[in-house]
Amino acid sequence: MIEYFKEDKTFYLNTENTTYVMFVNEYNHLEHLYYGPKIEKFSNISDARIKYEFELGTHVSYSKDAKGYMLNNTLLEVSTYGKGDFREPTLHMELPTGSRTIDLTYLSHEIISELKWKNMPQATKTKTLKITLQDIQNNVITNLYYSVYQQDDTIVRNMEIINKNEEEIILDKALSFSIDMLNKDYILTKLDGTWIRERNISNHPLTPGTVRFDSKKGVSSNDHNPFFALKEPNTQEDYGKCFGFALIYSGNFEANIELNPHNLLRANLGVNSFDFRYPLKKDESFITPEVVLTCSDSGLTKLSNNFHQFISSNIINQNFKNKERPILVNNWEATYFDFNQKKILAIAKKAKKLGIELFCLDDGWFGKRNDDYSSLGDWYYNKKKLPRGVKGLAEKINKLGLDFGIWVEPEMVNEDSDLYRSHPDWAVKIPNQQPSLGRNQLVLDLTNEEVKAYLKKTLEELFSSAPITYVKWDMNRNFSDVYSNFLDKNDQGKFYYLYTMGLYEVLEYLTNQFPDILFESCASGGNRFDLGMLYYMPQTWTSDDTDAYERLKIQEGTSLCYPLSSISNHVCGDSSHQVFRHTPLETRFNVACFGILGYELDLSQLTPFEEKIITKQISFYKEHRALLQFGRFVRLRSVNNSNYSAWMVISDDNKKAILGLFQALAIPSPAMDSIKLDMLESGTYKITNRTQYHNVRTMGTLINEGLPIRVKVNHFLHNVIANRYLFEADKFQKVLTSNQLANSELLFHHTFTGTGLNDSVMLLEDFGSRLFIIEEEKN
Ligand code: DGJ
Repeated sequence: MIEYFKEDKTFYLNTENTTYVMFVNEYNHLEHLYYGPKIEKFSNISDARIKYEFELGTHVSYSKDAKGYMLNNTLLEVSTYGKGDFREPTLHMELPTGSRTIDLTYLSHEIISELKWKNMPQATKTKTLKITLQDIQNNVITNLYYSVYQQDDTIVRNMEIINKNEEEIILDKALSFSIDMLNKDYILTKLDGTWIRERNISNHPLTPGTVRFDSKKGVSSNDHNPFFALKEPNTQEDYGKCFGFALIYSGNFEANIELNPHNLLRANLGVNSFDFRYPLKKDESFITPEVVLTCSDSGLTKLSNNFHQFISSNIINQNFKNKERPILVNNWEATYFDFNQKKILAIAKKAKKLGIELFCLDDGWFGKRNDDYSSLGDWYYNKKKLPRGVKGLAEKINKLGLDFGIWVEPEMVNEDSDLYRSHPDWAVKIPNQQPSLGRNQLVLDLTNEEVKAYLKKTLEELFSSAPITYVKWDMNRNFSDVYSNFLDKNDQGKFYYLYTMGLYEVLEYLTNQFPDILFESCASGGNRFDLGMLYYMPQTWTSDDTDAYERLKIQEGTSLCYPLSSISNHVCGDSSHQVFRHTPLETRFNVACFGILGYELDLSQLTPFEEKIITKQISFYKEHRALLQFGRFVRLRSVNNSNYSAWMVISDDNKKAILGLFQALAIPSPAMDSIKLDMLESGTYKITNRTQYHNVRTMGTLINEGLPIRVKVNHFLHNVIANRYLFEADKFQKVLTSNQLANSELLFHHTFTGTGLNDSVMLLEDFGSRLFIIEEEKN
C-alpha cells in the first residue's frame, strides 16, 4: 500500500511484512527514513531521522543557515555529486553550462495506475508512486518510480531523467536506485564466478570504503550476478534480518556498496557508468532498468522466497507461470558438432522410450557448421546433416512422440558466413581495424534498425518453418572493439544500453509472435542469468557445468534470487566433461531434479542398467514435477560449509515436500545424522526415500561378498551383472509428526561403516545422495 501524509510530507510503502518510509525534508530533498520489518507511522519523524547539529570538521554544509545539514551524512533517495555528498552518486551528468553539479528537490508526486515501459523488461504493476524532483537552476527533471507488491514483500524502483534544456545534457551515470541506511555490521552477499563456475555465494564484511562490482562484458556476466544481499551478521537461512536487490537488466551493470566514516551505508545498482555517455537532447529522456528490493526479518530463505514468488508472479511471462515444463534431451554433450539425422533420431528414439518429452537440436545444424569457426548468421539447414531440413527432422521427432526444439545464437556472426560476407558493417567492430574475436565470432550490432529487422524476419521464418515448441537462445561471447556504424560519433557511449534495448525489442517481437514457444535463454551457460532475460524467456540454462557436485554450489547460489522454475539442469554422462569427476548417475538426477530437468548424454549408448534407472528417475520426476518446478525452495545445509548439503522443496500448503541429502566425500565410520524440519503444516507425515540403485561395477571385488557365486572383476559375468542388475539401496520409511520432525528431527539411516550392509544402512559413496518424500498421512 502506498500512503502519503501531508502533515509531515511522508511516503509510506507498506507490504505484508515490511515498511519503506521517505519524506520531503525542510530543504526539499527526498530523504530516506526507514526500510525494514513492518512498523507503524512515526508520530514525529524527527525522532527517527539521522541529524547532525553542527558541521562535521572538513564536511560541507548544504547552505549557510544549515550548518548541521550535510548531504554526505543525510540518507537520500537519490543522490548527486557537487553539493557536499562525496559518496557514490545515483546520477551524474554534464549540464549545458559545462557544470556537473546537480541538486534535485521535490516538485510533485502522484499515484499512477497504468505504467508500462516500451520494449523493456519490467515488473507488472497495479499502482506506482511517481515522485518528481527537479533541478530548478538546470532544467533537469527526475521521476522516481516505486511500485509496491503487498504479498511478496517487494518494491520495484527505477527512474527517468528528462532534459528540459534547449541544449544537450550528457548523462555520465544514471543508476536505477540507491538506498542509504545506518550500518548494522552488514555482510554483503553476492554471486560470483566465471564460465562453468557461475553464481557461487561469496560473503564480505563491510569496512569503510566502497565495494564495487560490475560487468563490462556487454552481458550481465558470469563474473558477478546483478543481484546482492545485505545481511546482519547473525543472519542465517531461517533467522535474522537481510535485504536483497536484483536488477531487471541483461547488459553492463554496476553495484556499489559504500560505508562512510560515520557508519552510513549506501548501496546502489544500475547500468554501468563505465563506458557510458548518454547525450539527451531537449525533452529526451533516459529510463533506467527496474530494480527489485525485498527485506526479510526471518532469514535468507524467506528473502529468496520473496524473490521467487515475485519473479513468478510479476516478471515471468504469465503463459508459463504454472505451466509444467517438459523434460528434454539435448544433443550437445552427446554429439557436439558431429551428428547426422540418423544419430539424432537414435537418441530421440531412446529418449522417448525413457519417458523424455522433448528433443532439442543444439548447435551445428545450419550453414556449413562443423566446428565453431563458421556459419553463425546463416540460419538455413545443413543439407548433409538434415537432408529433409529442420521441418523433416522435427516431423520425424514428432512421429516418435516427442516435441521438437531448436538452438539458435542470433546475436552473433562468424566472419566465415554468408551474412558477414554480405553485411560486414552489421558486426560490432571499429572500421579499418582487425577486431578481436571470442569463440571465433563477432557480435551483431543490435543498435542498427536493419539488423533488428533482419533478425525478426529470419527467426520468424525459422520458427514457423517447422513444428517448434522450444527454442534455446544462446550467446557465446563477451564484447570487444565496441563501435557501431549505425550510431553517430556523439552517440557511441550509448552503445551498450542501446544494444541491450535492441535485443529486448527483438525478443519482445518474437515472444509476441510465438506466445506458445517455450524459450530458454543461455549464454555459454550462465553468462546472462538475470531478470531481464527471464522476462522474455521463463527458464535459463544455468551453467555449462553439468557435474553434480559443482551444480550443488551453482544451483544453491542461483536460488538466492531465482526460482526453481527458471533453473534448467541436465543429467550428464560419466565422467563430467568439465571437471572429469565421476558422480553416481542417481546423484546427477537428484541434483538436476530441483528445477527444470533435462538429459544431455548419448542416450543411444546407455547400458541396460542406466536405461532402467533413468526410466525410473523420469517417472519419479513426472509424479512430483509440479512440486520440483514450482514448490517453495529451502536451503537446509550449504555445500559451502558442510560435507552433507541438503535442500527441500515444499508444496504451497506445506503438506508435501521432497528433501535432498547430498554428500561430498564419504567419511569412514561417520557420526549419526539428523535434520530439523520445522516448516511443515501440523500433522503426521510418512517419510520414504526414492528407490535408488547402486552400480555394482563401482563395488569392485566387494561384489563377491553378496553373491553365491564368484565373479572375476571386469570379466564377462561381472559386466553382465553390472549392466543389468539393479542393486537396490536402503529402504527408508518412518512416520513422524510435524512437531517431532521439528524437535526430535528426522534421523537418517546410519551410513555404511565397512562392516555390513542391509536395507537400513545407507551406502553413500563419494558424491552419493538420497531423495526423501515427505507426505502428510491422510486419516
Ligand atoms: C554454449 C551452451 O551453453 C551449450 O549448452 C551449447 O549450446 C553450446 N553453446 C553450443 O555451441
